[in-house]
Amino acid sequence: MKLVSFPEADVPRKWRVQQVSLQEQAWPGTEPSGTHPWHDPELQPVSVLLLDDERVVAALDVLTKEVRPGGRCLVASGLSTVVTDAALRGRGYGHAIVSAGRELIRSRGDDLGLFTSDRTLQGFYERAGWQLLAGTVLVGGTPDDPFPSDDLDKVALGAFFTQPARAAVDDIVGCRVELFPGSIDRLW
Ligand SMILES: CC(C)(COP(=O)(O)OP(=O)(O)OC[C@H]1O[C@@H](n2cnc3c(N)ncnc32)[C@H](O)[C@@H]1OP(=O)(O)O)[C@@H](O)C(=O)NCCC(=O)NCCS
Repeated sequence: MKLVSFPEADVPRKWRVQQVSLQEQAWPGTEPSGTHPWHDPELQPVSVLLLDDERVVAALDVLTKEVRPGGRCLVASGLSTVVTDAALRGRGYGHAIVSAGRELIRSRGDDLGLFTSDRTLQGFYERAGWQLLAGTVLVGGTPDDPFPSDDLDKVALGAFFTQPARAAVDDIVGCRVELFPGSIDRLW
């Protein structure tokens, strides 16, 4: 097994085709089709792939933007489109890829990890080092067309990597955090 990561637009085609196929398998008809980048380039999308030889067995994308909880400017990154090949689930590949996503965000110096997930997957993310942000609502969309996570059955997960992020815990945990990633990736 090998982990690789690339800016979404630079994923080698042989792997990008497989990544898109896994995403279409998990969310049929709900995401753009084709191998071109799906995410808003403003969010600096980075794809992380778990490979078994040349086969993509699991994948995710990391999206990034600045947030300003309590007036502090922090670089926040979150996991998006996390998927394991349906034929290969339950073998720990999902655990490996969401752990790798966390490590990528930490090791490059981003202040915090911040994203939403289906409530049923809370334990799955916690086992990979992510922290439940009890009561936190991420407000997606745009200021003119907000898309808050409490409209859905979602939980917020995070990780506080830097001192400025740790100083902002009380403005994040249990709070509404304006993520506003835009109208392409409305919520991550
Ligand atoms: C979620 C997903 C990535 C997990 O991948 P995986 O390779 O099976 O993950 P692992 O083998 O490391 O771990 C599986 C664990 O997740 C749990 N799990 C997986 N899907 C679950 C679900 N929908 N609800 C509750 N638990 C789930 C399993 O029960 C298992 O729990 P365990 O660690 O206690 O045994 C995979 O099920 C998937 O691709 N799902 C469809 C896409 C999706 O929902 N992505 C997440 C978006 S937030």
